[in-house]
Amino acid sequence: MHQAYQISSYAQYQEARQKSVENPELFWSEIASHFQWKRKWDTVLDWNFQEPSVKWFEGGKLNISENCLDRHLETRGNEPALLWEANDPKEPGRVLSYNELHFKVCQFAHVLHANGVRKGDRVCIYIGMVPELAIALLACARIGAIHSVIFGGFSARAIADRLEDASATFIITADGAFRGAKDFPLKAIIDDALEANNTVQKVIVLERTKTPVSMIAGRDVWWEDEISKVVAAGNPDFPALEMDSEDPLFILYTSGSTGKPKGVVHSTAGYMIWANYTFLNVFQYKAGQVHFCTADIGWITGHSYIVYGPLSAGACSLMFEGIPTWPDAGRFWEICEKHSVNILYTAPTAIRSLMAFDTKPLEGKNLSSLQVLGSVGEPINEEAWHWYSREVGKDLCPLVDTWWQTETGGIMISNLAGITPSRPAWATLPLPGVQVCVVNEQGKELEGEASGNLCIKFPWPGMLRSTWGDHARCRQTYFSAYPDLYFTGDGCIRDAEGNYRITGRVDDVLNVSGHRIGTAELENAINAHSGVVESAVVGYPHDIKGQGIYAYVIYNGNHSDEEDRVRKDISMTVSKLIGAIARPDKIQFVPGLPKTRSGKIMRRILRKIAEGYTSNLGDTSTLLDPTLVDVLKEGAL
Ligand code: PRX
Repeated sequence: MHQAYQISSYAQYQEARQKSVENPELFWSEIASHFQWKRKWDTVLDWNFQEPSVKWFEGGKLNISENCLDRHLETRGNEPALLWEANDPKEPGRVLSYNELHFKVCQFAHVLHANGVRKGDRVCIYIGMVPELAIALLACARIGAIHSVIFGGFSARAIADRLEDASATFIITADGAFRGAKDFPLKAIIDDALEANNTVQKVIVLERTKTPVSMIAGRDVWWEDEISKVVAAGNPDFPALEMDSEDPLFILYTSGSTGKPKGVVHSTAGYMIWANYTFLNVFQYKAGQVHFCTADIGWITGHSYIVYGPLSAGACSLMFEGIPTWPDAGRFWEICEKHSVNILYTAPTAIRSLMAFDTKPLEGKNLSSLQVLGSVGEPINEEAWHWYSREVGKDLCPLVDTWWQTETGGIMISNLAGITPSRPAWATLPLPGVQVCVVNEQGKELEGEASGNLCIKFPWPGMLRSTWGDHARCRQTYFSAYPDLYFTGDGCIRDAEGNYRITGRVDDVLNVSGHRIGTAELENAINAHSGVVESAVVGYPHDIKGQGIYAYVIYNGNHSDEEDRVRKDISMTVSKLIGAIARPDKIQFVPGLPKTRSGKIMRRILRKIAEGYTSNLGDTSTLLDPTLVDVLKEGAL
């Protein structure tokens, strides 16, 4: 496991960082040489940020599933690749060794092939957190199909939009999914999503909850039946397809500041190397350790740090089906004890929700196996940082605060566990290969201590290559705000030593419980309610979720005297159009929205009111109707 490129001292970190800037081609080609290639690349890097066009390891041929499975079989075939913990603690867990995982991935690749899936096809995956989800990802990769995982919390309508955008031809789902005390009828949701769809040919359905489902002849097949056919044919191996370095590996939809989610496209070789490099270096994974990333594979964190990062490194990755607070708030700690977890990687929202139960659920739990703690998804407040470090890590474990995004493929700014210093609420230093800069509103790069917008000026292997079906949108969203820079959408502070603290989004994107939700998308959903005239959504500080959703709504429909009922109807509309994760926390009915004479909503004022300010709202003189502000303040929730 200890790879030549695993940094083991601060001096090595500095050296690697310097080399990655001075000679990025040499730096990355040395790292790439440790992977399994079917053909070596011709050029390490070719790029320009105007188009943008970024190509790493062009001419190289490989398959990521071979790098995650086959190449480990000889050395660690019988060692665990995946540990699985069921939602219900009484249900036995599962252990899949590298040999077993390889076998199952090959079997399922046969199933995909027999059902007509071919290289480049888009396969939508909508399953809960069971090992078959990881198997489905790796099998798609093995046959060269592009997977697009959709988080279980999205509604039929949201799935339908994503299926259409990707022109997906296959779906892999399950009868249902268990999460805490609830189960979700996944197949029924897929059926609704398929009502007006005309691209999907086949739906492969895994049995998990035994929820009754409709199976449409010719379209829907059971996972288990298809596997039986492969077994009967007696053809266990499935040679991994030869893929180009730049062939798309997956699409993952994410919200932005416009109404429609976009499909972030990741490549094969660059993404693999980035997920692997960041995994080994940030968490300092050592052979034999158990890595527990609590994210859902419906998000990028699960892609990179449950599946591709750990498995490409031959690591043991623990996957958990349930939630931290069910059957009680001690569940995470029980899992850590039971599986002797060494690395725990979770989100600030989970930490804050567990903090609310105080330390009682931790009592009697042996957490002495823990060696590294990690945080991801949103800024971690100091209180949560200290609680996590003290109560969970017993002040013995380095805590890595990892900043990155769906678009970056893997961690970009973070301390390296035990190697570079941590600092509460600071993501600290960029990883080797990450050339960060801070710019002001005018796009001028700031030197030294600074606060401004976070940009990146040089390509890294794991960066997004495009937005599916609309390359212009990729350019517009990420590369047009400042010439020749990738703009992250985040604000930051940099200290004199070059440490970064991420202060949050500077665009109209909210981060609710670590889930990214665009305000424009939310407003579209609210406005779809028949009685809503107009709405504006902003974030406000929320103790557990980090940010809560605050909606100002002009309502002119029926039942306006029954405010609570209307609120529920609006929430239901959002739930139907996006998913339960996007339901507003607060809905304030207003007679108008504060607009400038040119018709622009002044969100700054709305944000201040939502945050509870009654004075110092800033300049309101440019408002069309300044008297409205008092009305909004009076009605604030
Ligand atoms: O605002 C930043 C925040 O989450 C955004 C990315 O969201 P998403 O693409 O859903 O990916 C989440 C998992 C990587 C960023 O633009 N964010 C993520 N990690 C941190 C963070 N903010 C502060 N500190 C972090 N460690």
